Amino acid sequence: MTILVTGGAGFIGSNFILDWLAQSDEGVIDLDLLTYAGNLDNLAAVRNDDRHVFVQGDIGDKDLVARLFAEYSPRAVVNFAAESHVDRSIHGPEDFMRTNLFGTFTLLEAARNFAATGAPEAGNFRFLHVSTDEVYGSLAPEDAPFSETNRYEPNSPYSASKAGSDHLVRAYFHTYGLPVLTTNCSNNYGPFQFPEKLVPLVIHNALSGKPLPIYGDGKQVRDWLYVTDHCTAIRRVLDRGALGEVYNIGGWNERPNIEVVQTICEVLDELQPRSGGQSYADLITFVKDRPGHDRRYAIDASKIERELGWRPLETFETGIRKTIQWYLENQTWVAKIVDGSYRTWVEKQYA
Ligand code: NAD
Ligand code: TYD
Repeated sequence: MTILVTGGAGFIGSNFILDWLAQSDEGVIDLDLLTYAGNLDNLAAVRNDDRHVFVQGDIGDKDLVARLFAEYSPRAVVNFAAESHVDRSIHGPEDFMRTNLFGTFTLLEAARNFAATGAPEAGNFRFLHVSTDEVYGSLAPEDAPFSETNRYEPNSPYSASKAGSDHLVRAYFHTYGLPVLTTNCSNNYGPFQFPEKLVPLVIHNALSGKPLPIYGDGKQVRDWLYVTDHCTAIRRVLDRGALGEVYNIGGWNERPNIEVVQTICEVLDELQPRSGGQSYADLITFVKDRPGHDRRYAIDASKIERELGWRPLETFETGIRKTIQWYLENQTWVAKIVDGSYRTWVEKQYA
């Protein structure tokens, strides 16, 4: 038995594969284009594991995707592959449309053809689409957290492309009866997150003595979830979720950005004090706001708890400490991204 994971060399996908192979004997086919965000160092622990087959390629490559279905007959697809960074989507939205929209469409088509083959694996086949809470738009301080019935109101090219992909997944269920599941999750943090996102960027800049950029007034709120809690939730939805359903996943950990950055500085002050005795918080610098910056995201994760019995294990305090410890112990992983050598390895391996 095998599952097809897309985007498995990225942040959440690699955590998912490591977690999956630690818990089950079932193999994983990992289809990843290895964009700037894909990093095979994330999967170093399973490099020689026969259960992990890495394929460099595009989810939008119809022939390749069809070949993978024919060759491996996966019993499930977990679709992580995406362009995922809001700031990049503002400066260059095209790749977001290509991968998040057209790529998801291509995968759905291949899955539909596979499900129609009558192969034994096709009988219990499931397509799990990993999405974001950003599709619901922005909340006011007094609003209730997003539930699965909130209206879609995406505000960035990233969230609009993810919203479009969610709609395609829904349409394939209603029109073709494809057995799909969708998860919409809040902001993740943890090991292997590319240091362009807030948490790893702040840890890296602090340790390098660089400014810690806070967009606007820093009072935007995000709902933080430790990445392995997200992986456990996805596994739970894959195992027990009702077909055609949507599950919101969140950590019940709303924090303003400024508080997130201050907490990171406090933990770093304790674990790796600066040589001059100042706090890392002295590096905090308010910068120009992101255009269209959503004010608040918050997830009501009661459906997945009630129906599937999932709750996060980490609080923000425990998760952020683990994350900072991981980055302190894995400085080479970050250094290879900063100097670009993580790509050299990839290019040599898959030239
Ligand atoms: P990431 O940017 O770290 O990784 C994305 C991976 O997808 C990379 O390995 C990249 O090489 C690969 N990829 C990109 N385009 C591809 C293509 N056309 N074909 C095959 N592979 C391709 O992203 P992430 O943070 O791990 O997010 C994974 C998924 O989870 C995304 O769908 C994202 O929308 C969703 N999500 C992320 C968060 C978060 O906080 N990071 C929260 C909720 C949902
Ligand atoms: P980010 O990690 O990019 O995730 P998302 O935009 O998907 O929520 O950003 C998290 C929050 O932190 C968001 O409100 C933007 C803010 N932010 C900063 O203030 N400074 C930064 O340098 C970055 C990257 C983000």
